[in-house]
Amino acid sequence: MVKDMTKDALLSALSGESMAHMRYLIFSDIAEKEGYKNVARLFRAIAYAEQVHATNHYKALREYNEDAKGCGGVPIGPGNTSKNLELAIRGEEFEVREMYPVYIKTAEFQNEKEAVQSFTYAYKAEQIHAQLYREAKNSVDSGKDMELKGKVWICPVCGYTHVGEEPPEKCPVCGAKGETFKGF
Ligand SMILES: [Fe+2]
Ligand SMILES: [Fe+2]
Repeated sequence: MVKDMTKDALLSALSGESMAHMRYLIFSDIAEKEGYKNVARLFRAIAYAEQVHATNHYKALREYNEDAKGCGGVPIGPGNTSKNLELAIRGEEFEVREMYPVYIKTAEFQNEKEAVQSFTYAYKAEQIHAQLYREAKNSVDSGKDMELKGKVWICPVCGYTHVGEEPPEKCPVCGAKGETFKGF
């Protein structure tokens, strides 16, 4: 049995990551329609990383739960791609600035090792996501699609996110082999 505070933290993180996953897929469709093909691809790639995080949080619960509740603060949207990128940035920044640091401490305090790892994986990837979305927003706000040289590579274990022609040889966060990375 996972302790109550960590369970609440896991449920909250699961809810947040699940919603981000779906919203990014929808945002991707909107970006596609607006002609921002690379922004659309970035949204799809990061949606997959959030799916990895949600799956990790869900597995860390280890039991059936029906009292799931989401974490709020940022409007759900969607707007146009510029607005969606702003919402995405605010969501990622909240996770990096407040949510995961507090959740990690909570799980550490309760000696919940799997939860600590799941939160830490997400915490590290969200910092990269925020930066990529900031770059995307700068491009879109000056009227052009973002530049993405090569593919957006996502680690299937921890959601680490890498832009390049090739994935890294191994994941710098969790050590997974580069050949397992999913390219978008
Ligand atoms: Fe993220
Ligand atoms: Fe990884």
